[in-house]
Amino acid sequence: MRKDCYIGIFDSGVGGTTVLKWIRKLLPKENIIYFGDNKNAPYGEKSQEEISDLSIKAGDFLVANGCKAIVIACNTATAAAYDEMRDRYPGVPVIGVIEAGAKVALTTSRRKVGVMGTTFTVKSGAYLKEVRRYNRDMEIFQVGCKELCSMIEYGWDKIEDADEILKGYLDKIPESVDTLILGCTHYPIIREQIEKHFWGTIVDPGVETAMELKKILESKKLVNDKNGKGKVDFFVSGEREEFKEVAEKFLEINISKVYTFNF
Ligand code: DGL
Repeated sequence: MRKDCYIGIFDSGVGGTTVLKWIRKLLPKENIIYFGDNKNAPYGEKSQEEISDLSIKAGDFLVANGCKAIVIACNTATAAAYDEMRDRYPGVPVIGVIEAGAKVALTTSRRKVGVMGTTFTVKSGAYLKEVRRYNRDMEIFQVGCKELCSMIEYGWDKIEDADEILKGYLDKIPESVDTLILGCTHYPIIREQIEKHFWGTIVDPGVETAMELKKILESKKLVNDKNGKGKVDFFVSGEREEFKEVAEKFLEINISKVYTFNF
């Protein structure tokens, strides 16, 4: 594996750009392939088998392009397919987002951790297991937010009652929750809106995930040390314009081209 190989990142759509943003900050020289499987979004309403199957197809695409590491920038895919992907690509480090998020929440919460996530992530109990692995006494409250992913994909500002729908989910969180994990990578895109309705500390697992990736690349001597800024090649399986619009706004960049990849 060469240092100048790509890092592969994937999500069900535009959500993984919230992890990409941190990776670009911490590892600016890296070349990256980003794949958003927006034709199949939302993953959160699918079965374990369907999500695993889609994640493997995304992973195979990234590995076929010689990626030196794979970041599952999707909580739902991490919950459904992390173990399978790690076993499938033995020579390539695979990094998920859930362990990172759980670890950070444990450093900030004194009483009860809240998790907002997709229907699948909440049902899988992945955060519950991860938090309890490190602290068996920590209480957790989870809220499944079925509609949010599709709303963010479409463009939050274009939806009239978006804030009302969001508030409906956040109102369910008991006051005893002092730390809220954004347990879907789409949610940092609407972090400001979430902050309006939540009183405590908000955890974005993307930060810790990027730090973990950096640590792994350093330990394997795979950090790209060439001069100059790395590039990002964007691929989606579905709608390109919608993706471009939301990603450009969030990342504050111009994306010259979004390629199509379908399986
Ligand atoms: N961004 C994703 C996550 O972190 C997927 C949301 C979805 O496709 O339902 O879970």
